Amino acid sequence: MPKKSPLKETPVGWYVLAESHELKPGEVLSRKFVGQEVVLFRTHTGEPSVVDAFCPHLGAHLGQGGTVEGETIRCPFHGFCFNTKGDCVTTGYGTKPPPKAKLHTWPTHEVNGLVMAWYHPAGGAPEWETPSLDWDGWLPTKMKSYDLSSHPQETSENSVDTGHFVAVHGYKSVETLKPLKTEGPYLTTKYAMSRHADFLGFKGGDVRAEFEIHIHGLGYSMVEAYVPQYNLHSRHFVLPTPTEDGKIDLRLGVSLLPTHLGKVNFFLGLMPRALGMSILHNMYFKHYLGDVMQDFHIWENKCYIDPPVLAKGDGPIGKYRRWVKQFYPQPQSTLATVS
Ligand code: FES
Ligand SMILES: [Fe+2]
Repeated sequence: MPKKSPLKETPVGWYVLAESHELKPGEVLSRKFVGQEVVLFRTHTGEPSVVDAFCPHLGAHLGQGGTVEGETIRCPFHGFCFNTKGDCVTTGYGTKPPPKAKLHTWPTHEVNGLVMAWYHPAGGAPEWETPSLDWDGWLPTKMKSYDLSSHPQETSENSVDTGHFVAVHGYKSVETLKPLKTEGPYLTTKYAMSRHADFLGFKGGDVRAEFEIHIHGLGYSMVEAYVPQYNLHSRHFVLPTPTEDGKIDLRLGVSLLPTHLGKVNFFLGLMPRALGMSILHNMYFKHYLGDVMQDFHIWENKCYIDPPVLAKGDGPIGKYRRWVKQFYPQPQSTLATVS
């Protein structure tokens, strides 16, 4: 009998806690991450750091009045300062820091305009890095986040669930251009699909788009999309971050490579290029958010079937389910289940 269980365990991996521009040198941010309160700060030389929110001295919240001093964060309560490794370097009294005054830090990685923290249930060290992309010529990524009842494994599975592209998103003629391939924590595949051209708000016939999926662990999916008819290249980000039990903060992002606007739409082609691109980027982003939002109601109300009952016509969900096992160091069968 397949089990119907809520996916509870957090997969090992990198998760986005902020966009780089939200965390300028000297700034401090508070976040919820895997059921804990964490604080992000960026030192004056530009190093980002993710630490536990509560000061190990007497428990003040470093995100509530903590300040960056040079390469450290200063607690608002007694002035203890901690460096990016979590060591207490001054007490605020001029006395020797107690050796046990150690602030827990989370491995931190900044790439593609994103500040990410590493999660491992046993505190294991990072096992991979998210690759840096070439951003030459690309427009800055537009991003929006949503607080949802879901799980990173569910939102990432969406990319290989080709069956729902038709039923939920209204695509036609879904074809696989590159079969699903995995390499350690990396998964890739490529599809082509077509849809009525009003997907950009313009009237027209069916337009074919190609989507190449790049998933690096379950917290980071990037899709390279290409619409040959418009010579339009875009990058789509799906970035689910576990916040508290059963909840994710889902960041969705889109960047575009400037194109010949007249190819996309006659009126856009008449506009000054920067204005036309900005309008196109806004429209495209809005369309993309609308597309992913079609999945929200299903994600928020579904259960997790393990093993799934698959049919001819489904995407490579079985392969995906085998691949995700690596992100759960404890066997998934130990998870709590409901009938
Ligand atoms: S609680 Fe942070 S310095 Fe005392
Ligand atoms: Fe979807």
